[in-house]
Formats: sequence, structure tokens, C-alpha cells
Amino acid sequence: MAFVTLQNVTYKYPLTKEPALREVNLQVKEGEFVAVIGPNGAGKSTLCYALAGFVPHFFKGEISGSIEVDGKKSDESTLDEWVLNVGLAFQNPFNQISGAKYTVFEEIAFGLENIGVPREEMKARVEEAMSLTGINDLADRSPYSLSGGQQQRVALTSILVMRPKLLVLDEPTSQMDPIGTREVFGVVRKMAEEGMTVVMAEHKVEWIAEFADRVIALKEGRILMEGRPNEVLTSDLLPENGFGISRYTSVAREAKKRGLWKKDFLPVTLDEAAEGFKSR
Ligand SMILES: Nc1ncnc2c1ncn2[C@@H]1O[C@H](COP(=O)(O)OP(=O)(O)OP(=O)(O)O)[C@@H](O)[C@H]1O
Ligand SMILES: [Mg+2]
Repeated sequence: MAFVTLQNVTYKYPLTKEPALREVNLQVKEGEFVAVIGPNGAGKSTLCYALAGFVPHFFKGEISGSIEVDGKKSDESTLDEWVLNVGLAFQNPFNQISGAKYTVFEEIAFGLENIGVPREEMKARVEEAMSLTGINDLADRSPYSLSGGQQQRVALTSILVMRPKLLVLDEPTSQMDPIGTREVFGVVRKMAEEGMTVVMAEHKVEWIAEFADRVIALKEGRILMEGRPNEVLTSDLLPENGFGISRYTSVAREAKKRGLWKKDFLPVTLDEAAEGFKSR
């Protein structure tokens, strides 16, 4: 049985004409890592909000269809109940900072404090989560003194410390360098291996190809395509519809036209490209 089920979800923000999500049907298995790609305005963030209960509990507007996580429907739960199971890291990490805490450590502890976790356990869990994302050295810094990439790590950590069953990440590496990006994808992969279900909106297709189980391609609020990462990320439909694609895919597609790429698949990552050109 699916852990997450969206059935025919259509959603329109207040005072807008066009729906941001249109007839979205989606199932995600427990422990699956699903990446969501799409051009600007495709509805990636809106899908994240829908999974996290912010649509319809925070953003009003018109919604139809149903959103179910772990056997519960979002419109039959309050947002307070919902966020115990589902954690969302916002696209802009600045929006995540509570503004109530002076240090990164206290910031990460904030959620646990709110649900009344005892001090000793809280400390242990915060330290564990900080080691996971590699930010122990930021513990005493002010959340406002951090770089964008550091803020994103803190935001991710403050979600992970809550141990949500469903982790929803909206472009969590947008302000990170390649090293940070690889680390975050690695952590997310590890969480999925341990049974956490992950939905991540992300543009970085080479990392998606390496780490995700499945890719959903969204365009104008609709699912244009879904499937295994290599299959979706090398589809001709992507460039035709304004999606960003891997440079290695573009090069191999050109090479194929000239008879220089002999494999029956196109590459997404550098390793796949190197392997394919070497053994032709
Ligand atoms: N708060 C809002 N009120 C009204 N319309 C909104 C709101 N937020 C987003 N929209 C609209 O909903 C549609 C989907 O936006 P969304 O932010 O989900 O796209 P996205 O794929 O996350 O884009 P990006 O890549 O820029 O982050 C867009 O047409 C956008 O203008
Ligand atoms: Mg977005």
C-alpha cells in the first residue's frame, strides 16, 4: 500500500485564475525517495505545500481531490497534527528561521521544545541531527549570521530532528556548492534507506539521477511524466517543454545524431557519459 496518495488533486490559490495543481495523481511508497522537477512556476512548491498540509490549512483557495499520508487525510487533520508526521523545508530557508532563538542549537531544538521533549533527550537528538548534516561547528552561531547554504543545512536539520515519517524538501540545496549538495543528497538517501519517505523538489538533475528512486516531471501544475530517473531525465519531452536538463544528456544526444553515441540509453551524469563514450 502506498504511504502517500494524492488523488485527483486540483488547487487554485485565492484570487488567481489558473490552478497551480491540476488533477495530480501520485503514490509514493514508504522509504521511497521521489524527486520533483519542473520549470519555474510548474507547481513544485505548491505540491510541497499540499503534502505538508499548508495547502489547504494555511494557504486558502479552492482544493478538490484528496491527500493522504500514512492512512490519514489532510483535510480531516489539523495542521498541528499533520506536522507531527510531515516535515517541510521551505524553498527560502530564511522563512524557516523562527526568529525566537539566538543560537543554531536552540533553533534546531525549538520544535522538540514545542512538543515537550525532556531537556536531556532534546540535547542528544539535536546533537545527533547536527552530526548527520555536518553542522556541529555552527551550534553557537546566530541563525541570522549564516550563509544561505548554512541556513539551508540548519533548516534541514531542524526538520530531521523531528524524525518525520514524510520529509518534504523544496529545493534544499539551491544555495549550496557541489560539496554541500552531494552531502545533502547523501543524507537524504540515508534517511530513505532507514525508512523515511522523501519528496524533494530539485533542479539538479545529475544528483537526482544518482540518488533518487523516481522522478516526477511537473508542468503547469500537471504531471507531464514520471518514472525511473534515467528514463525521465533523458526523455525528449523535457527539453521540448522547457525543463533544464543535464549537459551530458545534451552532448550525448548530439553525438548520437552523428553516430558517435552507440548506447541504447542517454547519460545524465558525468560517469555515465564517460563510460558510454569510452566503450563505444
Ligand atoms: N501564494 C500564492 N498566491 C497566488 N499564486 C501563487 C502563490 N504561490 C504560487 N503561486 C502561483 O502558482 C503557480 C505555481 O507556483 P509554484 O511556486 O508552486 O511553482 P514552482 O514550480 O515552485 O516554481 P519555482 O521553480 O519558481 O520555485 C505559479 O503560477 C505561481 O505564480
Ligand atoms: Mg518553488
